[in-house]
Amino acid sequence: MPASPHFADVSSGYLPSIEAKLQEYCQFDLHCPEVLGAAIRHSLLAPGKRLRPLLTLMAAEACGSDPGVALPAACAVEMVHAYSLVHDDLPAMDDDDLRRGRPTCHKVYGEANAILAGDALLTLAFEVLARDVSPPKAAVRCCQLLARGAGASGMVGGQVDDLEAETQENWGASELENIHRRKTGAMLEVSLLLGGTVADADEKELAALGRYGRSLGLAFQVVDDLLDHLGDEAALGKRTGKDTERGKLTYPGLLGVEASQQKASDLVAEAIEAAKEFGGRAEALVSLAQFVLQRKR
Ligand code: IPE
Ligand code: IPE
Ligand code: MG
Ligand code: MG
Ligand code: MG
Repeated sequence: MPASPHFADVSSGYLPSIEAKLQEYCQFDLHCPEVLGAAIRHSLLAPGKRLRPLLTLMAAEACGSDPGVALPAACAVEMVHAYSLVHDDLPAMDDDDLRRGRPTCHKVYGEANAILAGDALLTLAFEVLARDVSPPKAAVRCCQLLARGAGASGMVGGQVDDLEAETQENWGASELENIHRRKTGAMLEVSLLLGGTVADADEKELAALGRYGRSLGLAFQVVDDLLDHLGDEAALGKRTGKDTERGKLTYPGLLGVEASQQKASDLVAEAIEAAKEFGGRAEALVSLAQFVLQRKR
């Protein structure tokens, strides 16, 4: 796989607009309790990689649209992702104290406020989609897709089985793949589908975005597992070694490091193959896929 010197350059074309729009959506009126607004900003505006909103903008562009029209949908996806991180870090789930290089939301604002900040981020995402995506038909479709990707058959269901797997001795490769596809893959796939939807993509384009997203989504979590095992805490901005400590079912735990790296590499190659559907407009998606394989954070 060739190196990806371009991802920093490619993403720098999109990131300022994502950050500015997220800031704009975080300016709550006086009716929002101060502590809630602060907890939301602490988590949403922290230095995340913004891969999901990048995918939304890049997908819209691959389908021939101005990426700017996809900004509300891109921010909605990041809001749901930020909520999932706040809840994932809670003592009842992974019990983490470091996220995006900062103390986790519940460490700063307390558990109840962290739960409620997550709730508010989740609902804000749907307010944004319903209000700021047009035409209304596209807004409805985006709401439906995001609800499905984030919900019981997607991210939330995957998170439930991720926790269940901590005590399931006989779960293996098929359960693991199924967990990772839902807890992480579903949100990456839906990030792309929202971009395609606002760009009014045709069925063939949406199918290609789905194929790219499913391969990249699984690859992304295989690499997340590898980074927990081998990565550097300071670079990652989150704790390492936690998966083994908590008895998580992971790729390096099940297959070993080398086979996991090979798996991630094969999946990224699959994603890049799917992106070829978009010809010259696939450049950004290809560079993001290469970044996922090489990332250190
Ligand atoms: C972390 O996602 C949670 C997983 C699904 C593995 P990211 O690695 O994209 O985290 P941020 O958004 O950059 O903080
Ligand atoms: C989290 O997976 C997936 C989410 C839905 C947030 P992990 O628990 O492995 O994510 P990190 O390693 O804490 O970021
Ligand atoms: Mg987790
Ligand atoms: Mg976690
Ligand atoms: Mg992890």
